[in-house]
Amino acid sequence: MKPTQNHKPCIIVVDFGSQYTHLIARRVRELGVYCELLACHALEQRLLEVQPKGIILSGGPASAYQKHAPEIPPAVFKLSCPILGICYGMQKMIQQAGGQVNQGHHCEFGDTRINIIVQSPLLDTITDHVTKDARHQLDVWMSHGDHISQLPDAFTIIAESDNGTIAAIMHQEKPWYGLQFHPEVTHTVQGKKILQRFLHGICKCKTDWQPDAMLETCSAGVKECVGHDRVILGLSGGVDSGVTAVLLHRILGNQLTCIFVDHGLLRFDEAQQVMALLTDHFTMQIIHVDARQRFYKALEQVTDAEEKRKTIGRLFVEVFEEQANKLSNVRWLAQGTIYPDVIESAASNSAHQHLIKSHHNVGGLPERLNLKLLEPLRMLFKDEVRQLGERLGLPHDMVWRHPFPGPGLAVRILGALSPEKIILLQKADAIFIEILRTSGWYAKVSQAFAVLLPVDSIGVTGDCRHVGPVIALRAVETTDFMTARWAHLPYELLEKASLRIINEVRGISRVVYDVTGKPPATIEWE
Ligand code: XMP
Repeated sequence: MKPTQNHKPCIIVVDFGSQYTHLIARRVRELGVYCELLACHALEQRLLEVQPKGIILSGGPASAYQKHAPEIPPAVFKLSCPILGICYGMQKMIQQAGGQVNQGHHCEFGDTRINIIVQSPLLDTITDHVTKDARHQLDVWMSHGDHISQLPDAFTIIAESDNGTIAAIMHQEKPWYGLQFHPEVTHTVQGKKILQRFLHGICKCKTDWQPDAMLETCSAGVKECVGHDRVILGLSGGVDSGVTAVLLHRILGNQLTCIFVDHGLLRFDEAQQVMALLTDHFTMQIIHVDARQRFYKALEQVTDAEEKRKTIGRLFVEVFEEQANKLSNVRWLAQGTIYPDVIESAASNSAHQHLIKSHHNVGGLPERLNLKLLEPLRMLFKDEVRQLGERLGLPHDMVWRHPFPGPGLAVRILGALSPEKIILLQKADAIFIEILRTSGWYAKVSQAFAVLLPVDSIGVTGDCRHVGPVIALRAVETTDFMTARWAHLPYELLEKASLRIINEVRGISRVVYDVTGKPPATIEWE
């Protein structure tokens, strides 16, 4: 089921494949403006339907002068709305308007200071520094090897970097702008203000994308579609399926039946907490399947991470299917699909994608059950799902919990797993998370967890030497989980975590902290 679009997008972000395109769309929504992200080949029809108030052209890996570089569809320029081209988006706009883009003598990557040379509706009064001779400057983040070498007559340069590279441009008559730098990344200090100026000042968008509007958009059409049919939903313990459950229960009441497949691989006490909240507080109908032994048995000998993922995915579908087949009058399968999943599956249909890790929670179920799909969160980013969750009355700590992989602790116990190892890891992880929460660090990092390593080391407790496994702690900061920086946690915090884990989790001999970024490492260890 696609949402009935009662909230028309104000802004269309055209995706040319930059790794920051999601971030542009998220920033626009954070500023209270509903936007949609579309690939350039799927654009024309949608533009006519929605008549947006503005268009943002993203960056991308191609060079504007390459033979098969993606073009900006003519429909973009036919609409009279404002346009903001970012990096490739700007260069392609200039090239299509008759200008020239070339490979630069040197690349600009990272922090750069640019000088404003002409006043413009986009950048006026937005400044980081004013020089002695009254020049306004901005600290921005660049990532490009190409540059505009010839500007068409209808355009004016509004900012350039010290080495003369064109950093911002505008059309002299039309509300068309271009930035060589990336306003969507936090390193561009005034990036948010620049986007705000474009959205509210130039496009005249209203700030109306708030939790109430999200609730309305996600609820629209659900009851009409479903009628009196029964809907089933697989609960994983995670935020997306939890919010989907609460939302649908609010609309459909007991027409919704949730199936909670407890694979025994969740964090400490998590399964009990989720069940208690949804059954006692929200009074939902939940079938709780204790499938722990079945999962443990199937995973007993499995050491390869991909094999673990596949086994868990297969078993999950099997258990879910067994339960679903016992219910009558089921026509719909609800899923906690969110916007990044939708964008990624659209991208993977059109472009070649490398398999890095097979995320087990996508695919599998719908085809086999032959049910119609209900995906009420499919237009929301993760942070919006969390806001909606709070709006629906889910506890703050639960909706803002760090992400947790579908295969759970199975990919955090390296090598073969056992119920004993799961308990060790759950306890160590719970201690680390508690320390992060009480010290205020939990909300400052994007994801933190413990990993049980398949090595034994020697420890000394009291007068005895003993051999036991090693726990690795991992905490990362990231905006998109595609790249991440290891969190520089205070030594005192790490010391406290290490001491408590050794003292309270019997058997652990040593605690280490992972200081590897992504890349070169991934966030999970498997
Ligand atoms: P990696 O390890 O790929 O992790 O750097 C990026 C993000 O994805 C999560 N992750 C998974 N999520 N099923 C999931 O649902 C999986 O198999 C899986 N593997 C990794 C990881 O926790 C991080 O947030």
